[in-house]
Amino acid sequence: MLTNDQLSQWDRENFFHPSTHLAQFARGEAPNRIISGGKGVYIEDRDGVRLLDAFAGLYCVNVGYGRPEIAEAIATQARELAYYHAYVGHGTEISITLAKMILDRAPKNMSKVYFGLGGSDANETNVKLVWYYNNVLGRPEKKKIISRWRGYHGSGLITGSLTGLELFHKKFDLPMSQIIHTEAPYYYRRADTSLSESEFVAHCAAELEALIEREGADTIAAFIGEPALGTGGLVPPPAGYWEAIQPILRKHDILLIADEVVTGFGRLGTMFGSDHYGIEADIITIAKGLTSAYAPLSGSIVSDKVWKVLEQGADELGPIGHGWTYSAHPIGAAAGVANLKLIDELGLVSNAGQTGAYFKAAMQDAIGAHANVGDVRGEGLLCAVEFVEDKKSRTYFDPASKVGARLAAALLSEGVISRAMPQGDILGFAPPLCITPDEADIVVDKTAKAVKAVLG
Ligand SMILES: Cc1ncc(COP(=O)(O)O)c(C=O)c1O
Repeated sequence: MLTNDQLSQWDRENFFHPSTHLAQFARGEAPNRIISGGKGVYIEDRDGVRLLDAFAGLYCVNVGYGRPEIAEAIATQARELAYYHAYVGHGTEISITLAKMILDRAPKNMSKVYFGLGGSDANETNVKLVWYYNNVLGRPEKKKIISRWRGYHGSGLITGSLTGLELFHKKFDLPMSQIIHTEAPYYYRRADTSLSESEFVAHCAAELEALIEREGADTIAAFIGEPALGTGGLVPPPAGYWEAIQPILRKHDILLIADEVVTGFGRLGTMFGSDHYGIEADIITIAKGLTSAYAPLSGSIVSDKVWKVLEQGADELGPIGHGWTYSAHPIGAAAGVANLKLIDELGLVSNAGQTGAYFKAAMQDAIGAHANVGDVRGEGLLCAVEFVEDKKSRTYFDPASKVGARLAAALLSEGVISRAMPQGDILGFAPPLCITPDEADIVVDKTAKAVKAVLG
C-alpha cells in the first residue's frame, strides 16, 4: 500500500485541483487531505481523522456517505450494461425509469428531462435550448440571459458568465456579452439599510424592470436564478421575492430557468425549491441531489411550453444538434434511481425541513447574540452565519483578514467541516439530509467553540 507521504507527493506533482491556490498547493504551503471513507454524516481521511461533514461534500451527498443500496445498484448496472448511448432514440431501462421518477416528482408543468453529467453542462444545455427556442419562434434577437449578482450556475464559459461572483470572472474574460446581471435578493446586504423587507423586494423588482427596459425586452430570452442563493452566500430570498419577479418575466415573455442543482430533491424541506417558493419555471436544472453524488449525473427538465417549440424545431430542422456521449449514462441513472428511492424510504425531505429548522434555531441560540454575528439565516438544511466587524453599523471585516476562512479552519480543527463561502465572511452549512438533531447539536456546539477561539 502507498504511504501517505508518497500519495501527498504525487498529489502535489501531478494533480491540478479545482478551486485551489495552485502555487501554494504545489509548494506544499497549503494542506492536502486525502479522503478514504465515509459513513452517514462522517468522512475519514488517510490519517484516520474522522470529520463531521456539515457541507455534504459540495452540498451533494444528500443521503449521506456509505449507502450500500446505491453502491449495489451501481455494481449491478455495471455488470449488466455499463454503457450505451442515448442518441437517436436509444435508452436503457434504468435511464428511462429515472426520467419517469424525476417527472413524477417535478412540478406539474414539466414535460421531459435531458440528462447531462454536472450542473454546469446542464445550464449550458439550458442556454442553448433557450436560444434554439427563440430561433424557432423567429425571434433571433431575443438571446440575452439575466442572472443575479451572487448567483452560482457553474464554471463553463456561459455558466461561469451566469455566475455572479468575482472570483469566477477575474482573468477569464467573463462574463460573456450575452449575459447580464441584476440585483441579488440579499436582504442582509442591501445597500440602503433603511429598507424594510418588502421595500427591498420592490427595489429588486424595480431594478429588474429597469434592466429589461434598458436592454429591450425583445433582446432578453431568459432569467436564471437559484430558488435560494447558494454559493453566493446561502441566502433565502426575502418574503415575496419570487411573487414579485415572476409577473415581470411573464409580461416580457422572458423564460424562467430555476437552477435547482442545490435545492432539488429535498434540501429546503420540499422536493424542489420551486415547490417551496411557488416558482413556475420553464426549465429546471438538477444535479447534485439527483444521485447524492454517488455518480455524476445532471438534468434539464423542460416544461410543456418549451418542449412544444423544440418539437416544432425538429419538424423544421431535423434532429436536435445537441448531445453528450455520456448523456443518461446508465451508471449515473442506477445511482439516481437508488438514491431517489432512499430519499423516499428514509423520509429525508421532511427531515430536511424539521432538522433544518431545529439546526437554525439552535445556531441562533448559541451564537446569534455574539457581537460579530450579523445574521443567522437558512431554509431547510441550508444555513449560514454571516460575520461582521460591527453589528450595529453592519461594517464588514477587511477581506484581507480572512475571518471566514479562519473560522472554517478553527471549526475543522474541532472536527466539523463547514464552508467559508467565497464572497464575504460567511460560514456555510449544508449537511447530508439524514443528519439527526444530535448531530446538528454537535455542529452548533463546535461552531460556538470556533467562534470563541477566533473572535473571542
Ligand atoms: C446552483 C448551482 N448550479 C450549478 C452548479 C454547477 O454544478 P457542477 O459543479 O456540477 O458543474 C452548482 C455547483 O455548485 C450550483 O450550486
